[in-house]
Amino acid sequence: MKQEKILIIGAGGQIGVELTMALRKLYGTDNVVASDIREAHPLLKDRGPYLQLNVMDPVATLAAVRNHGITQIYLLAALLSATGEKDPKKAWEINMQSLLQILDMGVQEKLTKIYWPSSIAVFGPTTPRDNTPQQTVIEPGTVYGISKYAGELWAQYYNKRWGLDVRSLRYPGLISWKSEPGGGTTDYAVEIYHEALKHQKYTCFLSEDTYLPMMYMDDAIRATIELMEAPADLLKSRMAYNLSAMSFSPKEIAASIRQHIPDFTIDYAPDFRQQIADGWPKSIDDTAARTDWNWKPEFDLERMTADMLTNLGKKG
Ligand code: SER
Repeated sequence: MKQEKILIIGAGGQIGVELTMALRKLYGTDNVVASDIREAHPLLKDRGPYLQLNVMDPVATLAAVRNHGITQIYLLAALLSATGEKDPKKAWEINMQSLLQILDMGVQEKLTKIYWPSSIAVFGPTTPRDNTPQQTVIEPGTVYGISKYAGELWAQYYNKRWGLDVRSLRYPGLISWKSEPGGGTTDYAVEIYHEALKHQKYTCFLSEDTYLPMMYMDDAIRATIELMEAPADLLKSRMAYNLSAMSFSPKEIAASIRQHIPDFTIDYAPDFRQQIADGWPKSIDDTAARTDWNWKPEFDLERMTADMLTNLGKKG
């Protein structure tokens, strides 16, 4: 069997940093080329092949694929929900053009697999909000959500029309300590741990009872790798899979932090992100992922809080 060579685009982002490290452990450092428009993230610097690459430059991207004998691409570069609302046209352009270009490259260069993340943001205010099913009303309210839903349809189309093996997950809010989130509505659930350790207080940009689906990064990375390694014939859906681990509100995450830092206090100053959150599910039904490729999360709120505070505390 031919050795797979992976290109990660957007390797400096919240998912990219940890996914690069995990894939390098699995496939060998030299077989995973990390790339980002930015300089290498400190955790990736001098630790394996790295390219400073703008995915909006098709010539440079194709050259990277050919020069490195790439067989698989993980396309993670995107503008997220909150950033996207500030410049909707730019978000649409970056999120869609990059995907269409990589899908075409996948067909042209006969790539074996492509990974592209989707999000709970595909759902909107008309979607049932509790235990949101895989297939339901999908009318996204943000440009980020529109681009993710359109992207899912394109991925499915390329699979049906050209047999391209594109795989995708609808990630919930992701919480991590190694890498930083950027521009998302769920980012409060990372900031809160940093502020709890530094200042024992946090002002949340969402209201206290805003429930959102969330997941610890360890679970998200494992889910991504398990989906990518699953035999193709198990994947009944070629849209992105719903993926779920836990659901909590700012009030509940604050209470779980207080178990470790009793003096921690939280107050609330909801901003424009409240409206985005109000249009998203409170919890997700991921039966299809559990059935098709055996998905099972490991971290709940309590375990995640303990792990986050320990690791961020050590990091200082
Ligand atoms: N975490 C993302 C956001 O808040 C959702 O995919 O934009």
